[in-house]
Amino acid sequence: MAVPPPSPTSGSPRPARHGAFHALTVAAVDRLTDDSVALTLRVPQELRAEYRHAPGQHLTLRRAAPEGAEVRRTYSICSPAPGEAGPSVLRVGVRLVEGGEFSTFAHKEIAAGDVLDVMVPAGRFVLDPAAAPAAAHYAAVVGGSGITPVLSIAASLLAARPDARFCLVRSDRTAASTMFLEEVADLKDRYPDRFQLVTVLSREEQEAGLPSGRLDEQRLTALLPALLPVAEVTGWFLCGPYGLVQGAERALHALGVVRTRVHEEIFHVEDTAPQDTAPQTGGRAPSAAASRGRVTARLDGRSGTWPVQEGESLLDAVLRNRADAPYACKGGVCGTCRAFLVSGEVRMDRNFALEAEETEAGFVLACQSHAVTEEVEIDFDR
Ligand code: FES
Repeated sequence: MAVPPPSPTSGSPRPARHGAFHALTVAAVDRLTDDSVALTLRVPQELRAEYRHAPGQHLTLRRAAPEGAEVRRTYSICSPAPGEAGPSVLRVGVRLVEGGEFSTFAHKEIAAGDVLDVMVPAGRFVLDPAAAPAAAHYAAVVGGSGITPVLSIAASLLAARPDARFCLVRSDRTAASTMFLEEVADLKDRYPDRFQLVTVLSREEQEAGLPSGRLDEQRLTALLPALLPVAEVTGWFLCGPYGLVQGAERALHALGVVRTRVHEEIFHVEDTAPQDTAPQTGGRAPSAAASRGRVTARLDGRSGTWPVQEGESLLDAVLRNRADAPYACKGGVCGTCRAFLVSGEVRMDRNFALEAEETEAGFVLACQSHAVTEEVEIDFDR
């Protein structure tokens, strides 16, 4: 990575080939709750190096839709980071989204023995246990399926670093709708002195501990200092719906936590971008009317220059000529289409994936970027 996020979250292995898909066999489908499953995918020996991942990364699954269009969805890996040889299996959590094409397919149709198209791991919401400082103390605030990458992060850190501690604050609607209950309880059993768990249920009374209700900014501002020494926490991982992540970010800011210690991954963003995040510009350019022009893109060592049509994103312009250009959500959320803006100016519609350090250094989301200048050059290989 050309721009390392604040250490020690910079250990993300770069995929061998951007956006490469391979056929992986489903080894198991485990029902976690009424509306979520875990898919276990078998990784053949020859592909294990390509699927080596950092804790917190995700996989993009692809399905050819019946009417010819293609559906891609990104799901976080919940299994711990593998060793140098790479994983023999990968496990992802899939929550059913109302009307969601892929999640409905996963819940109703996918079975052990099926073969799925799976992109190599990607994502920068990661923690490299080897890079953590001595006696590191990390914390996470997650909502719903936001537990998925954090489960991998916590399990990998606690297993690799006997001196590290992890505090998990999780929010769910009810106990019955809580994903990975057993896996999280297992961490508590295995590391009773180093793993701290606080569960807040929004729609259900709890037997002991916290009252029910939403985990919002006000509540977190009061709760977090009572749980752990906030100023001494090495790094914070916030993951879940937009509202929860934003509330947690504001609470940490109010508690004096510097932004570079906070890492975010947002699941589920409404179609309309919130006013305080849109529009955003890439690292180089202020906003202006989009113009027709040309984009030069470098991808896996090969470059090409192609026309950009009026209103078209840079990603779509590249995709018409390079079908292997990396993307998943096309909504500014997953970060799979991240590219470095080498020259020219772009306007980004929205950005829920790149950290401030990345946009300041010149990275953009190709799916959200529109050419402002006649000529724009981007590099997917950085
Ligand atoms: S494809 Fe997901 S952010 Fe661009």
